Amino acid sequence: MKIKVFARSKEIADFICELWLKSGQEAIKHRGNFFVALSGGKTPIGIYHELAKSSQTRLWRKTHIFLTDERLVPWDHKDSNYRMIKKTLLSRIAIPEKNVHPVRIRELAALSAQEYEKDLVQTFHLKRRQWPKFDLILLGIGKDGHIASLFSGNSTLAENKLLAASVRHVKRQRDRVTITMPVICHARQVVFLVTGKRKAKIIKEILMDKVRTPALSVIRRNKKVLFALDQESASLLETSF
Ligand code: 6PG
Repeated sequence: MKIKVFARSKEIADFICELWLKSGQEAIKHRGNFFVALSGGKTPIGIYHELAKSSQTRLWRKTHIFLTDERLVPWDHKDSNYRMIKKTLLSRIAIPEKNVHPVRIRELAALSAQEYEKDLVQTFHLKRRQWPKFDLILLGIGKDGHIASLFSGNSTLAENKLLAASVRHVKRQRDRVTITMPVICHARQVVFLVTGKRKAKIIKEILMDKVRTPALSVIRRNKKVLFALDQESASLLETSF
């Protein structure tokens, strides 16, 4: 696991753009495609804006973009992760439509999850019991330590057969679809993007106090994890990283 602390969010964005380009070129050279899963939330917005400015059209043609999770709302709803990612990134780059994999919104969250699972299986040409190997997964972390829509105490967190699952967000009483923990743990590179004072406590709990959270499970099961923090979110960490 690596931890990088940046002075400003813009520096995180620049770093992610470089990492994206390097990982993308390597993935396309060795495997023909670049598979990425993007998180919703507010933290990545500036990063997606910067990514959209990169003029690597060759890269976009071989890049497949999935979402780490989605709220079961129409794609034009203010809370839709797909809407945010489309506005900040997808609508500004020359990525083929077939390479963008949003969660299809159905009446039943379980149906949306099943269709998302099918899209993963087909796109990665998976056989039974095989896991998709994303080249890069960008994740935020909630103040309660949740990642994607994997919440402590929720049974979906322990899901170890499905690639995508539906989950009810108890507080908001809203259904969501999320990729599961094994998918995150099989990724070639996971980057946690965490900024702001309000995340300092959870970052300390994860990185110093080793409080059992979904993010800590990823650290324990996937060696290729990077925490991209700003000084505010890292402010309670004792040693400088
Ligand atoms: C979502 C996200 C969620 C998010 C965290 C952090 O659908 O809300 O996928 O997991 O990454 O809640 O959100 P912020 O970046 O807004 O703090």
